[in-house]
Amino acid sequence: MFKRIIKKITPKRILDLYRAARYKSAQSPLLNADKLRLIDLALKKKGARSFADLGGMWRVNGGYSVYCSDRGAERVVLVDFSATPEFLNEQSKRKNLRYIQRNLALKETADEVNGVDCVMLFDVLLHQVQPDWNEVLKYYAAHTKLFLIYNQQFTGARTVRLLEQGREWYLRHVPHTPADTEEYSDLFEKANEPHPRYSDGRTYRDMHDVWQWGITDHDLTRVMRELGFHIVYEQDCGWLPKIEEIRNKTFMFERAQPQSRANAAHGCGNHV
Ligand SMILES: C[S@@+](CC[C@H](N)C(=O)[O-])C[C@H]1O[C@@H](n2cnc3c(N)ncnc32)[C@H](O)[C@@H]1O
Repeated sequence: MFKRIIKKITPKRILDLYRAARYKSAQSPLLNADKLRLIDLALKKKGARSFADLGGMWRVNGGYSVYCSDRGAERVVLVDFSATPEFLNEQSKRKNLRYIQRNLALKETADEVNGVDCVMLFDVLLHQVQPDWNEVLKYYAAHTKLFLIYNQQFTGARTVRLLEQGREWYLRHVPHTPADTEEYSDLFEKANEPHPRYSDGRTYRDMHDVWQWGITDHDLTRVMRELGFHIVYEQDCGWLPKIEEIRNKTFMFERAQPQSRANAAHGCGNHV
């Protein structure tokens, strides 16, 4: 009761700082307050109890999965190519946290995740090629009621494959340089060579480690609408420093009830 009152009277900014600080010490310095808010909304406003955290590992050691697992989720599954020791250690302390080591962008992976309230794609959608981001959404649409998406959205006129715009343009639109990030150093030189880490024969230009897509809000909402989902929450989280035409955004999409499909096209705005 006391906790609820404190939460009600405390400004949102302070609550965000508190959340980030709490989970910083417990898990990782890098959990993002906007992503945590999206999870809180799903838990509290939508009653979500099962979560799939797709691509939840890098730099955050599955921190968002752990957060869900500690905040009322009955079941959490994290899917990624590999797990960090920090995550495995946290997982060993929890019964409701599962890990699937696999390419998340496969229909059989979505089928194995099978039946969750909520699919989370945080900084992950723009990496998906072969199959592309829209196909990945399709695979999971059959298995979830909600999508929580945090993505670096492209503000240009139409969705583009970033690499196809040329090296100089590409490097103005991604937060990495060949000098500071290994994956980007020989990306263009080796673009058409098979990548040694993949067994499916994909080339460097199709690897998941680098930014692949500039997805527009228009195309993301259109694809989701076609899959039967409408926006119930949307937040603009601002420009990325020194990068052209890219804004961080959060979205919550909810499966439209048959009777509310007609309203789906208008389901925009910062509300839940
Ligand atoms: C930029 S990190 C985002 C980490 C975390 N979700 C966050 O918000 O900070 C992308 C993560 O997705 C994983 N990933 C990307 N594409 C993947 C795929 N097709 N299958 C499995 N993991 C993938 C990467 O291994 C990495 O852990």
